Amino acid sequence: MHRLHFLPILLLPSLLAAAELAATPPMGWNSWNKFAEKVDDKTVREIADAMVSSGMKDAGYVYVNIDDTWEGERDAQGNIKANSKFPDMKALADYVHGKGLKIGIYSSPGPKTCAGFEGSYQHEAQDANTWAAWGIDYLKYDWCSADKVHKPEQMQAVYQKMSDALKATGRPIVFSLCQYGWQDVWKWGASVGGNLWRTTGDIQDNWRSMSIIGFDKQTGHEQYSGPGHWNDPDMLEVGNGGMSRIEYETHMTLWALLAAPLLAGNDLRSMDDTTRDLLTNKEVIAVDQDPLGQQGRRISKTGVAEVWARQLQNGDLAVALFNRGDVMAETSVAWPVLGIEGKHKVRDLWRHNSLGSLRDQYTTEVAGHGVVLVRISR
Ligand code: GLA
Repeated sequence: MHRLHFLPILLLPSLLAAAELAATPPMGWNSWNKFAEKVDDKTVREIADAMVSSGMKDAGYVYVNIDDTWEGERDAQGNIKANSKFPDMKALADYVHGKGLKIGIYSSPGPKTCAGFEGSYQHEAQDANTWAAWGIDYLKYDWCSADKVHKPEQMQAVYQKMSDALKATGRPIVFSLCQYGWQDVWKWGASVGGNLWRTTGDIQDNWRSMSIIGFDKQTGHEQYSGPGHWNDPDMLEVGNGGMSRIEYETHMTLWALLAAPLLAGNDLRSMDDTTRDLLTNKEVIAVDQDPLGQQGRRISKTGVAEVWARQLQNGDLAVALFNRGDVMAETSVAWPVLGIEGKHKVRDLWRHNSLGSLRDQYTTEVAGHGVVLVRISR
């Protein structure tokens, strides 16, 4: 009898830890989009500094994630070493933790990563232990060359294996699956221990790539996302220069409606005010991070006009009126398609202004490739 009483108490801390990990979509930074192979210890430290000084940390960004190209050779015992760009991973993790931030790393279940560096094949538990000893808080696990050693039908077991290895370390480590959305990963990503899973191939810093991924490739996956396990439409390109401010606003808005992880992919050390404002708009981030964790969906599509909505925890709705066309256009949403009626307060989240109490519908001009994002009170 006594044992039955004690057991739940003993299990509680680990259950709570699992539930807390990625309770809302992870926020942070990742090196790949801007730096690719040009990432090193100095850059990561400076990015951590900038994350704090720019206000990104205050806005909720916490993970500083090193992507591919950190890996060196293994020693005689098979322990993975970082290459010469990262002289001391433990010291780097300590530095990042000292800023009140967390640190992430990258590997592949194959023998080689996508950039041709050492992968974790046949060293899964050993690598998980090494990362935990360094103080790593987040792993992106990228399929890459795994096809050479694993059959496609082994994919779930391969991800489960690393998930188990991470859990066995006893350190809470966010587990990010990266296999480009193959085999409908959204249907099984959570069951193999994934906290997030990429739904598509790589994003590029241009309107076409971002809008195809954001608008077209996410629909139908909504039901699989929720606290602890998220669809990942890939990292942000905001501030990398290939899109206009208006297009980056659309990028951020889509990601917020999609309850997507927000991993900035730009150089935080040198971003201008426009980029910083795009990344740190607290009202937009509150939509992304809404604790209900319910992914938004497209409500209507009329030519180039799309209306998307997301249910928020306090009963409000986040509603985005997008214009995918090239020129300014009038866009509108009628309350019944949102399941509401009568008069409701409407607030513009990008401009931070109240639009008053509106009856039956909202109509607005929307710039080409742009969006008006509002919060409708209930
Ligand atoms: C793949 C991933 C990218 C990045 C690179 C690194 O292409 O999808 O996000 O991690 O590998 O080589």
